[in-house]
Amino acid sequence: MKINLSTDLESPVKLSKYLQGQFSEHLGRGIYGGLWVGKDSEIPNVNGLRSDVIDALKKIHVPVLRWPGGCFADEYHWRDGIGDPAKRRKIVNNNWGGTTEDNSFGTHEFFELCRQLGSEAYINCNVGSGTVQEMADWVEYMTASGDSTMANLRAANGHPEPWDVKFLGIGNETWGGGGNMRPEYYADVYRQYQTFVRQYGKEPLYKIACGPNIDDFNWTSVVMQSAGPYMDGLSLHHYALTDLWEHKGDAVDFTDDEWRSLLNSAKKMDYFIHEHALRMDRYDPEHRVDLIVDEWGSWLKEQAGTNPAFLYQQNTLRDAMVAATTLNIFNKHAERVHMANIAQMVNVLQSMVLTDGSKMLLTPTYFVFLMYQFHQDANRLAAYCSQGSDLSYTVSEKDGEYILSFCNASLTADEPVEITLPTAVGKATYAKILHEDQANAHNTFDDPERVQLKDFTQAQAEGPAVRLQVPKMSVVTLKFEKK
Ligand code: AHR
Repeated sequence: MKINLSTDLESPVKLSKYLQGQFSEHLGRGIYGGLWVGKDSEIPNVNGLRSDVIDALKKIHVPVLRWPGGCFADEYHWRDGIGDPAKRRKIVNNNWGGTTEDNSFGTHEFFELCRQLGSEAYINCNVGSGTVQEMADWVEYMTASGDSTMANLRAANGHPEPWDVKFLGIGNETWGGGGNMRPEYYADVYRQYQTFVRQYGKEPLYKIACGPNIDDFNWTSVVMQSAGPYMDGLSLHHYALTDLWEHKGDAVDFTDDEWRSLLNSAKKMDYFIHEHALRMDRYDPEHRVDLIVDEWGSWLKEQAGTNPAFLYQQNTLRDAMVAATTLNIFNKHAERVHMANIAQMVNVLQSMVLTDGSKMLLTPTYFVFLMYQFHQDANRLAAYCSQGSDLSYTVSEKDGEYILSFCNASLTADEPVEITLPTAVGKATYAKILHEDQANAHNTFDDPERVQLKDFTQAQAEGPAVRLQVPKMSVVTLKFEKK
């Protein structure tokens, strides 16, 4: 493929760092065991958060973390998760296996997690079974300073200073598990709830309305028409599947056809964003409202022998292709898509990290985020993905460097690339590849370093031209100094 960026360059668009956001729900071992082990655990931890996982996640610079769900958010009553942990209310986690949720991880613990990760907070409020007052109180509890009942309660619980909440979601999947609402009804509910999101901090909270499921374009039109002026973002959920929802493919033991079908399903993100954005344009021609893809990733069969409600799945090179392809799609649509949150950060669906007791491993998807982090807040020069091509890519520039990422999801063919950059380049400051000969290569607790990033030495640069062969089943990231 020939890519010429020397002429006719579109005006650069910033690739919001939030496109590389994460999501962690009270689901299976996503929080408990995966992140939170408690202060008395033998697993090394700081304030109850396991140090091995935090150290690994810090390296990918998680810009934003969505919590507490997902479906769980619509049964979460935040007051259950504050105060003396020994006295916190125990509830049944009805969405995810009926396990006991002891609420030992609550608001204070979440903000401690954000502090340790250096991430901003995206709180998803309970609309399904909560009240406007409950949401309003939570916002006050988290963000108000001075002398108010909620601020004083927070101080009494050990945190006098308010926290920064960047994003606030109002309902999750309200068309389904979050209340089975019709869009006309939800639009009014949203308008009411958002009225009582008061501003206590310096910055107004960025309010996100519950958007469509996959290709429900009518939802987008109705909610935008009626509630568009009251929101900053509209969410979208789309998971990559190998087959029908009822026939999820195996995460490790898959055929070539299943490799292709998962990738094709992931690539539909491009179409869904395009189509939803068209509907949004109708009611928001100035593009004031962003699209927020706050759940995405591969959804495969749960690992045999694990609780099916815990959604624990292995993660192979194929998932890394899904991640890189999808990030390229977000980068392609960065004018409209402002944030995306892969589901989910640890031990659930397409994770960065898997844990087993005190053991931890990094997944192939983790390495994609490790390489793509250089695009965070960079200026996009080009981003490409198309149904007809196995190659997708992002080229950006930041801090005097060009950043080039390519994903070749072909099972059989390497892809020659010749790219002409706007200026001549100096030396490569970074060159890594994620590639294995086996399509289902993955890390296990017995062999945690089977899949790793390797140095990539095949790229040749001359003047503004960079030539390389992107091997089949690989993701490559290169950085070059601008001359
Ligand atoms: O990510 C798992 C679940 O998928 C979330 O809880 C829900 O929002 C979605 O259906």
